[in-house]
Amino acid sequence: MKLSHVIESQQFTLPMLTELFQRAEQMERIVRRGGTQDYNHKIMASLFYEPSTRTRFSFESAMLRLGGKVISTESASTFSSVSLGETLEDTIRVVDDYADVIVLRHNEVGGAQRAAAVSSVSVINAGEGKGGGQHPTQALLDLYTIYKELHKLDGLKVAMVGNLADGRTVRSLSYLLGKFERVKIYFVAPPSLQMKSDLLNHLSEHNVWYTLETDLKQVLPEVDVVYVTRIERERFTGTDADFLSLMRRYFFDQATMQLLPQRVIVMHPLPRSSEIDPDVDKDNRAAYFRQAQNGVVIRMALLTWVLES
Ligand code: CP
Repeated sequence: MKLSHVIESQQFTLPMLTELFQRAEQMERIVRRGGTQDYNHKIMASLFYEPSTRTRFSFESAMLRLGGKVISTESASTFSSVSLGETLEDTIRVVDDYADVIVLRHNEVGGAQRAAAVSSVSVINAGEGKGGGQHPTQALLDLYTIYKELHKLDGLKVAMVGNLADGRTVRSLSYLLGKFERVKIYFVAPPSLQMKSDLLNHLSEHNVWYTLETDLKQVLPEVDVVYVTRIERERFTGTDADFLSLMRRYFFDQATMQLLPQRVIVMHPLPRSSEIDPDVDKDNRAAYFRQAQNGVVIRMALLTWVLES
């Protein structure tokens, strides 16, 4: 199977996900033996218009572990010709001559698609926009993490918690989960931060079971995975007191963990702010740092795939 660009989760079919996971397992073996030089003639450009720690470093680490080379700008809005008014399209038309693959984090929904439309090399969406945007490579590593930790994807029950209206990771992961049999998705958020209707309509059209909930504690005993995301103060329209009350309702501490069955995993795309108490980290069900580690092998798998296609 060929993979030209990575733009959105919907483009991945079940056979493609199987191939990706096989490639990721192969990459785990390559990393264990110290990497490879197989791609030492290839260059990856990482073009980030928004801040990133995990996505940028794990893509760069992935390319270096494959023996490839990296050219990079970490704040493209300031340190590239965009600051002089250059369009994304013009930037891509230039950078595609300097690199064999472009990893792009853009501030606008649709940025990766616009870049792919003019690029002569593969474009990988490393997260774009808010409230309608996607972060497909995060969702792919999230799915791989669930597969590795729980050894199943059909029949999963997943709670997504936090600011779902603006979260690109929860959107991308929902699209992927909806491809599997008998999946149940519990969207847990206050009404003003609930998942948007376009994504819910997509799930309905594909006969994916979901429910909208506000009470986290009622949902916890039912699920296999809890996927926690940040609730940013600036995105909540209520008073400070309302916000504090909200944070208390969705806060994960050791008392919350006691409501979870032993087999459940807690995930978070990171960075976290104050929604998970660091005390929870030592609980083996807290999978978020293992999840972040999986970013390297999934991104190695994606890079090899697009570079071979
Ligand atoms: N999960 C994630 O996208 O993290 P970064 O913003 O640090 O890349």
